[in-house]
Amino acid sequence: MTITKEQVLQALGHVEEPDLKKDLVTLNMIQDIHIEGNRVSFSVILTTPACPLKAMIENACRNAILHFISKDAEININMTSRVTTQKNTGVPGVKNIIAVASGKGGVGKSTVSVNLALGLAKTGAKVGLIDADIYGPSIPIMFGLEGERPKASEVDGKTRIQPIEKYGIKLLSIGFFTDPNQPVPWRGPMVSTAVKQLFNDADWGELDYLVVDLPPGTGDIHITVTQTFPVTGAVIVTTPQNVALADAKKGIGMFMMNAINVPILGIIENMAYFTPAELPENKYYIFGQGGGKKLASQLDVPFLAEIPLVKSISDSGDAGKPIVLDDGSIMANAFIEVAQKVAQQVAICNANAINNTTLVNN
Ligand SMILES: Nc1ncnc2c1ncn2[C@@H]1O[C@H](COP(=O)(O)OP(=O)(O)OP(=O)(O)O)[C@@H](O)[C@H]1O
Ligand SMILES: [Mg+2]
Repeated sequence: MTITKEQVLQALGHVEEPDLKKDLVTLNMIQDIHIEGNRVSFSVILTTPACPLKAMIENACRNAILHFISKDAEININMTSRVTTQKNTGVPGVKNIIAVASGKGGVGKSTVSVNLALGLAKTGAKVGLIDADIYGPSIPIMFGLEGERPKASEVDGKTRIQPIEKYGIKLLSIGFFTDPNQPVPWRGPMVSTAVKQLFNDADWGELDYLVVDLPPGTGDIHITVTQTFPVTGAVIVTTPQNVALADAKKGIGMFMMNAINVPILGIIENMAYFTPAELPENKYYIFGQGGGKKLASQLDVPFLAEIPLVKSISDSGDAGKPIVLDDGSIMANAFIEVAQKVAQQVAICNANAINNTTLVNN
């Protein structure tokens, strides 16, 4: 029996992308089909290298060929990805902008931003990170880059700031341009201009994801970023206390306002419980339990993760080497999972926004 390309497409037409609720052929995710005797090979183009469903989709493709065509087929699947985008993000070459916000200060936005950005990069994505917290930039310390000054260079006749590259991502912080020992006495318009420059005047190159660490609250910087750039979605960080949850609700409310209209990718509950290093299976819900999850279901937004309060997260931030880089550790794996879930939500948002049968794979 000779296997044909049409048979392969027909078989794979039975495999549904679980998040996007359409089959892989309709979504244009199958490419490079080659057939030689009973050997079938093809590529599956996922919407993100951080796809948490990769193994499941590969398995489903294999089973579809065996079931619908021949149980003797030898199958070789190349699982690859092209990160989707839905619109011009206003920053050339950048496919998706992910804002990390909270209502209350000190809940772990910067910790989540940094570990999320590095987690996405670890899965193979091209990632940038902007620290837009004018009043309390913390990314220079978390990357061990205090006192660094990004260089400027000429690109296409324009002077551009070169983001600093560390641990495989590109980053810029307002803290690279201010004196860490002096407060920044800037008025609203100056703040807006400075933040816009981090996006517009830097040579970001090609990025799949640009993560933006916002200051606490719902102020000038949030309005500037969301109104100047089409942000793909926002990740909201909260802690379990009622005061933090109430502020998180306000933060989410801001993104959902008509004038802003940024999709919520999900809620992360940080410092959800305390775990002593020597007894990792013991969980102490010292600030209350389940508040983040409840808020997510109330507002009908995804709940992405509970991250425990562990000393190594704080120590690694202070030491300039974020915890997600600690390969194979429980907390590194937890942040990789956060990155996968965020990437998954970005892909879903993109697919919903395009509202088309094929994704923009460019
Ligand atoms: N899960 C955690 N376990 C232990 N320490 C944590 C955890 N998350 C954050 N921290 C620590 O708590 C402090 C505040 O975190 P972080 O700076 O990320 O918060 P933030 O929301 O960005 O604060 P700000 O509102 O000031 O920008 C830091 O010292 C950080 O290392
Ligand atoms: Mg911060």
